[in-house]
Amino acid sequence: MEAELRYDVLVIGAGPGGYVAALRAAQLGMRVVCVDAWCTDEGQASLGGTCLNVGCIPSKALLESSAFYQRVTQEAMHHGIRLAEVGLDLDVMQQRKQRIVQQLTHGIQTLFNKNGVTFIHGHASLSQRDDEGFGVTVTVLSTGTQKVLQARHVVVATGSVPRSLAVAPWLPGKIVDSQGALELTQVPVRLGIIGAGVIGLELGSVWHRLGSQVTLLEAQSEFLPAADRDLAQEAQRALLHEAGLTLQLGVTLESVSEGMEGIEIRYRDHDSARVLNVDVLVVAVGREPCTAGLGLEQMGITLDERGAIPVDAECRSVVPGLWAIGDVVRGPMLAHKAEEEGVAVAERLAGQQPAIDLGHIPWVIYTEPEMAWVGLTETMARQSGRPIRVGKFPFTANGRAKARGMAQGWIKVIACAQTDRLLGIHIVGPEASELIAEAVVALEFKASSEDIARIPHAHPSLSEAFREACLGVDGRSINV
Ligand code: FAD
Ligand code: NAI
Repeated sequence: MEAELRYDVLVIGAGPGGYVAALRAAQLGMRVVCVDAWCTDEGQASLGGTCLNVGCIPSKALLESSAFYQRVTQEAMHHGIRLAEVGLDLDVMQQRKQRIVQQLTHGIQTLFNKNGVTFIHGHASLSQRDDEGFGVTVTVLSTGTQKVLQARHVVVATGSVPRSLAVAPWLPGKIVDSQGALELTQVPVRLGIIGAGVIGLELGSVWHRLGSQVTLLEAQSEFLPAADRDLAQEAQRALLHEAGLTLQLGVTLESVSEGMEGIEIRYRDHDSARVLNVDVLVVAVGREPCTAGLGLEQMGITLDERGAIPVDAECRSVVPGLWAIGDVVRGPMLAHKAEEEGVAVAERLAGQQPAIDLGHIPWVIYTEPEMAWVGLTETMARQSGRPIRVGKFPFTANGRAKARGMAQGWIKVIACAQTDRLLGIHIVGPEASELIAEAVVALEFKASSEDIARIPHAHPSLSEAFREACLGVDGRSINV
């Protein structure tokens, strides 16, 4: 097959992994093309992948608006603010979300133009490996036309798609995935969510704040099993008992059907048979790598048991010149992890030696209170066999949290008892998503709890709680 165009790097996918890889490679002087298939309802390209179009950004826009609404309706009075009439205009809220998405997706096109990255809208497939010649050949199908491109290096950044459940097939507007849950045009009176993971908790919070009765049905018998046990318990108490979400753990789904009472879900909860009727059901049971139509098999690539493209620590596949990053490979399915890998692959192609420690990728769940963590949980640290010391500081003893009326939760730090090196930091509380940044810096710089305890933190600020938790490792927190 004769190639029409040749590049140093061809990136498939313009999500946070792909667009960042393309930009960094262009910054480093390479000739770069990025191919992305994302199509809006109007048939237009929209850069940014899942993250910008239907993931991180629209969900945070609705989390922000719904938190604002809740504060106005439920908390303004405690600040001495009297409001005559408060109403909800969901159309305006959704339009605001969409404007933010459009501004950011257009921004990526501007960055591509500025850095000289060529963008092609279309579906890419790997069509041949050219061991002797130029590298990898890629065919791009775009509105009925076909382009053949060649590149010395191809970076696959095709992301992930929602996992579906055979027992609950999609029913537009009624049985929906996370994208459908972000696009509802009315606040459902009763919202069911299958899966009490990250999406279930965040989108459940949005609709609960706007007035829905939300019930989460979770297969596992433990809440957030991957999180630190203290953090999971604190979050469960706050979200369920105080905020008012309903959670059923240990659930086995038996059937989902549309009936007179809405969507009827029959399930077993331990040994009892139960029925739940809802107006809208969100299926949020995880995501799977997106590899459909990529032609990986003909390239000699066998997917792993999760359906991901196997790669080494540097994101190299078994095929020379073919790399893969982000949700389509092992590791957490997070935008910042995809970005890190995008930068690292581009720099490696330029002869640099970047390194990523997946153990230092932070997790954040944007509920209220927020949850964030990095490094080892207490259980993992104990299982590793090393002696540990734990420090914990509650936001009730932090002046800024009190002043903000958000004094729920705490910061917990785990340090090695022998070396005092920090091993893990877990936060439930206000602005955990921002506070975790200092914790990641601490782990990356191999800080000890004593290092943080001796660094001045502005007063009054939420960050003082991190310093106090580090002081607590040695039993010398000041304000508790
Ligand atoms: P994606 O963003 O999925 O992008 C892949 C792109 O490749 C897409 O545009 C797709 O159309 C394109 N593509 C696929 N196949 C082809 C092909 N053959 N040819 C051409 N193009 C192709 N993560 C966080 O870190 N923080 C959050 O707050 C957060 N919130 C989220 C909220 C929701 C509701 C969801 C669903 C996800 C959220 N995530 C969040 C996860 C985050 O969106 C993903 O981890 C991230 O988008 C992965 O980036 P990626 O570049 O690997 O892939
Ligand atoms: P998840 O893996 O976080 O949670 C899915 C949940 O569904 C699990 O608790 C699982 O036990 C449960 N489940 C699976 N099958 C089930 C069944 N048959 N019945 C009942 N429960 C079942 O996946 P989720 O929430 O879909 O999110 C996907 C990914 O997107 C996340 O893992 C994360 O990587 C990313 N994400 C990140 C966000 C963030 O960083 N704040 C926000 C949203 C998504």
